[in-house]
Amino acid sequence: MERIQSALNKARKARQEQRENQQRDVSAASAEGTTDPELGTYVIPRDMSVASREEVWKNVPAFHPKEKQLASSRIVAYRSSHDSVPYDVMRTKLLHQMRANKWTRVAIVSPSQGAGKTLTCVNLAFSLARQTNFFTALIELDMRRPALAKTLKLTDECQFSRVLSGEDTAEAHMRRYGKNLVFAYNKTTVRNPAELLQGANAGKVIDDLEAKLQPDIMIFDTPPVFSGDDTLAFLDQVDCVLLIAEAEKSSIDEIDKCEQELAARTNVLGVILNKCRYLSKHEEYGKEYS
Ligand SMILES: Nc1ncnc2c1ncn2[C@@H]1O[C@H](COP(=O)(O)OP(=O)(O)O)[C@@H](O)[C@H]1O
Ligand SMILES: [Mg+2]
Repeated sequence: MERIQSALNKARKARQEQRENQQRDVSAASAEGTTDPELGTYVIPRDMSVASREEVWKNVPAFHPKEKQLASSRIVAYRSSHDSVPYDVMRTKLLHQMRANKWTRVAIVSPSQGAGKTLTCVNLAFSLARQTNFFTALIELDMRRPALAKTLKLTDECQFSRVLSGEDTAEAHMRRYGKNLVFAYNKTTVRNPAELLQGANAGKVIDDLEAKLQPDIMIFDTPPVFSGDDTLAFLDQVDCVLLIAEAEKSSIDEIDKCEQELAARTNVLGVILNKCRYLSKHEEYGKEYS
């Protein structure tokens, strides 16, 4: 176990150093132009102004969902309300921990299907995007059961798996909400999701996307941990995970085993108990107060 942990720490450190070097190179190169000769792609220095980042994000096609459509999918955090409070609190706690550690990538995971990963990702992303000048990218990696398009009522034929396989550029498979939130999604299921997530290309695609868009946070909607090895294999690409447990369904044993598997590979920020039917007095008070 210790060997795995130290190997993962080493890989994460190497990734961090690579990112820093890349940013240093780019900062030097970008004094005149915007093309990194090594990558051959458009790159933006980390400290670029909000205005120039907005320009880059404008290249991602926009979508304009109706509030009614969002509400019918249980999306509540696109505006502040008593229903958005749990997601807003999650946002604040998450940001606090991620900023303290200089982390930018979080995976939302659960032991099994249906716990609420996708809905949590989407509401969290909308909550984050209400902070002006905070740029959020939500990437769908649950390619066996993609649900982002259905949840957001997105009709365009985006297929982010084609970006992971190196066949296409990212912009073609993302849609933007407002100026600071993008969704990378898959309209249909994919036959070889594990190979795509474990493939050598996945890490590079995510690195390139981060270098290009410079999001403040990348959220990954992942497959269930116990449904295959897709999620565990991908964890060395993220800085931390949030574990979603389904009230009245996920067993303590299942959550405990899942947390151990995750903790051996990355940082577990916490466990979210989703779909609770009964709230404590304190939580009810929070609702009223907001
Ligand atoms: N807090 C919640 N309250 C009510 N329904 C929820 C909640 N979270 C998720 N759901 C519903 O449960 C179902 C499964 O959620 P989803 O986010 O797709 O799960 P997963 O991505 O983990 O498979 C969806 O119909 C979703 O709307
Ligand atoms: Mg899902």
